[in-house]
Amino acid sequence: MVAGAALFAACNSGNIRRNPGKTYAPDMTYSRAYDAYTANPVTHNGLTSQAPVTGTIARGHALPDHLTEVDTNAYNALQSPYKFSDKEMEEGKRLFNIYCGICHGTDLDGNGPLYASGKFASMPANLKSGAAYLVMPAGKMYHAIMYGKNMMGSYAAQLDVHQRWMVIAYIKKIQSENGGAPFTMALNSKDTAAAAAPVSLVAGGVKDTVNNKK
Ligand code: HEC
Repeated sequence: MVAGAALFAACNSGNIRRNPGKTYAPDMTYSRAYDAYTANPVTHNGLTSQAPVTGTIARGHALPDHLTEVDTNAYNALQSPYKFSDKEMEEGKRLFNIYCGICHGTDLDGNGPLYASGKFASMPANLKSGAAYLVMPAGKMYHAIMYGKNMMGSYAAQLDVHQRWMVIAYIKKIQSENGGAPFTMALNSKDTAAAAAPVSLVAGGVKDTVNNKK
């Protein structure tokens, strides 16, 4: 420590140094690998940084991260890989009240305490009966939880994949009682999610072993 300080002081003592000194580990100072944003004679497109292979899905994610129009459509089409028991529906409600209720309200009408207090300027979505939200695909809701939407932040860090879908199931259940489509995510429901969802889209979610504690 003392020796280090002395060395440091020695380096900086006196006038501005004009010579660059010795390079002590040249192969570390001057990278022998290609730097990220440089040209590259080896790769097919001449760039060192390569985009992930099209369709790559990060571990723990349901869909690719690249937010192209195609991905947006894929999100809208994404369906829950799960069906939910009564107990899970209760858990969805509990999670909603913890993480979403502050803004969207425990009645889901967009009038949560934070908004009602006047401290949050942007009206949260009326998930209970707002016309646009009654017909909103579950996958789009999943996207909002994952990435946020305008003034709403992402809740991906608070809710794992299974929990996100439990919350969405709870919203859809309440919607079905307030003018929305009949609820189809219950465990005993006849039309299964597997039949409705393209397998390729749900595969990442189902196989998720990192976030999905179920
Ligand atoms: C800090 C306040 C806040 C919290 C907490 C919050 N939201 Fe939101 N949410 C908003 C606002 C504001 C909007 C409206 C965004 C817009 O359309 O500009 C919104 C919009 C939405 C939408 C509609 C998305 C769309 O594409 O239009 C959904 C679905 C949603 N929220 C679900 C949730 C869920 C589920 C949770 C809990 C995990 C949650 N929100 C937590 C503020 C919040």
